[in-house]
Amino acid sequence: MLKEEIEQIKAEIAGLKACSQKEAEEWRVRLLGKKGEITQLFEEFRTVAPELKKEFGRTLNELKQTAMAKIAELKAATEDSGAQDGPKQDLSMPGDPKDLGSRHPVSIVRQEIVEIFRKFGYDVAEGPEIEDDYHVFEALNFPANHPARDMQDTFFVSAGHLNPILLRTHTSSIQVRTMETVKPPIRVICPGRVFRNEAISARAHCIFHQVEGLYIDEKVTFADLKQAILLFAREMFGADAKIRMRPSYFPFTEPSSEVDVSCNICHGKGCNVCKGTGWLEILGCGMVDPNVLKASGIDPQKYSGFAFGMGIERIAMLKWQVNDLRHYFENDLRFLREFSTAVEV
Ligand code: DAH
Repeated sequence: MLKEEIEQIKAEIAGLKACSQKEAEEWRVRLLGKKGEITQLFEEFRTVAPELKKEFGRTLNELKQTAMAKIAELKAATEDSGAQDGPKQDLSMPGDPKDLGSRHPVSIVRQEIVEIFRKFGYDVAEGPEIEDDYHVFEALNFPANHPARDMQDTFFVSAGHLNPILLRTHTSSIQVRTMETVKPPIRVICPGRVFRNEAISARAHCIFHQVEGLYIDEKVTFADLKQAILLFAREMFGADAKIRMRPSYFPFTEPSSEVDVSCNICHGKGCNVCKGTGWLEILGCGMVDPNVLKASGIDPQKYSGFAFGMGIERIAMLKWQVNDLRHYFENDLRFLREFSTAVEV
């Protein structure tokens, strides 16, 4: 009889659970209190035959120890929950503030450029960063071994091949991919990351970002190009921004031009940002060379177009008067935090 009861209580102890100090205490009273189940067994023990006393005594004592250990364990486990006397923490206190992330300044400017051209009706096109020689050079009218290829120092992935694989040096390659697959009229901008084997300095980096633009239709003229760039400059740098175009050379455009915007700091009077000239260079552009149209299957007799390309970091540097390109790549939070109010997150 006593044996069965001991086994039953043992099983009960093994399965004991408590969610609070109060519950654990209730179990203690139920098992070990004055009228507790184990205390009762000690009462019964008195009636046990003398020859069995030794064995039952030991088992009963073990049972008591197990129960005490279990209750202590339950009390320890529920100690912090505070459920006995209500929450120990003031739940109405404000939480720990967590730093909110913000967009990177390069992403902010990229988005701004995309939005401006979207308003003008341009779609966004993207292309691979690991490209082939054909799309980066050949189809853009850079003849093989032509010194113009030295304008951009290339990282090769696999060289010595008829069409080497390389990291794109400019986003003009997306122009080619677009012309290969889309019939004119074409109006796209192509933002992306580009790679050049250049020494890192305040003005150059081996990885940076560009936005390429391409517009092809019947009767597109240089006047359209000029207007598109002027409207862009006004949106980006303010309504009173002026542009000037200087003749330049790119293999994929003819004629080609570099564009300066009036200095948004001194408004043309001359300062150290524009080095006293009143002008800041923002992009390269030109009329798409007929050879480039032909290479991608567009009839240059019927269609003409313009293209332009700009560095996003360059625009961002001008916009916020940052004088070292490297800030954009070092991820120094003190720098990045300065832009955290530039957009909502
Ligand atoms: N691809 C040129 C570069 O990386 C930028 C450029 C200049 C793009 C003139 C153009 C352009 O589309 O017409 O330096």
